[in-house]
Amino acid sequence: MISIEDFLEDIVSKAMRGMGISIQQLANLADIPEIKIKELLSGKCEESVVRSIAPHLQLDSASLLISGKKSWRPRDVSLHGLKNFNSKWHDMMVNSFLVWDQSTGLAAAFDTGSDSKNLRKEAKSRNLEITSIYLTHTHNDHIADLDKMIKNYPKADVYVSSREPLDGAILINCGHQFQIGNLSGTAYLTHGHSIGGLTYFINGLDRPVAIVGDALFAGSMGGGMVSYQDALKTNRLHIFSLPDNTVICPGHGPITSIKEEKEMNPFYPEFKNKEPSTDS
Ligand SMILES: [Fe+2]
Repeated sequence: MISIEDFLEDIVSKAMRGMGISIQQLANLADIPEIKIKELLSGKCEESVVRSIAPHLQLDSASLLISGKKSWRPRDVSLHGLKNFNSKWHDMMVNSFLVWDQSTGLAAAFDTGSDSKNLRKEAKSRNLEITSIYLTHTHNDHIADLDKMIKNYPKADVYVSSREPLDGAILINCGHQFQIGNLSGTAYLTHGHSIGGLTYFINGLDRPVAIVGDALFAGSMGGGMVSYQDALKTNRLHIFSLPDNTVICPGHGPITSIKEEKEMNPFYPEFKNKEPSTDS
């Protein structure tokens, strides 16, 4: 079972960095001692502290508390035509995905992770022809085994964002459309974590699928290393606008869905059930 990537302390730390808010500033805004913020950032989940800081970081306090209690993970997804691979990169795990069209036997790999062996084995055992390799972004952990993939599938085209060019790859932009046999896909620019992060939205399996790289995680998102505000904005524009039953395949952590992220992702408070109004 793939572990959840981020919990309370990671989420708060990403929001603080993204908004440029220091421990001292957050303590002042929330009117609590700095030590309380420090304790939270080291993993201590105290409800009153979580509730007092969440609004100042534009985070949803109820889902943030659940993250602090580590009491949620998305429902397991089993979808014919989609398989997740998880490989170790230094001290973390990274995902790659294989998507295929059963009727034609054509397949595409999405990222490579640090070791593509299991992905290649799966394709071989299912007698699939990998005709394309789509990259969500070019951070090393996601493309570490690209050379081996190219060596094994010399005829496959490699696709990457024109904002993150790679030698030999076909450069694509937001709105790029593609086919995997009878499956149809569109690439959307979800930048902010990386300069040219792409989300690949695919239709034709039993549920729509979005391979999002580090734009979004189950209950969290990749750090806004280029621009936190752009990461939030492009996720809202291109990911949260997808159908609720869309299967979300992140670069780290378990597979999730739009519906579950609307309910459980603290970075997007606007989708949460509002407190019942006391107005008559
Ligand atoms: Fe990344």
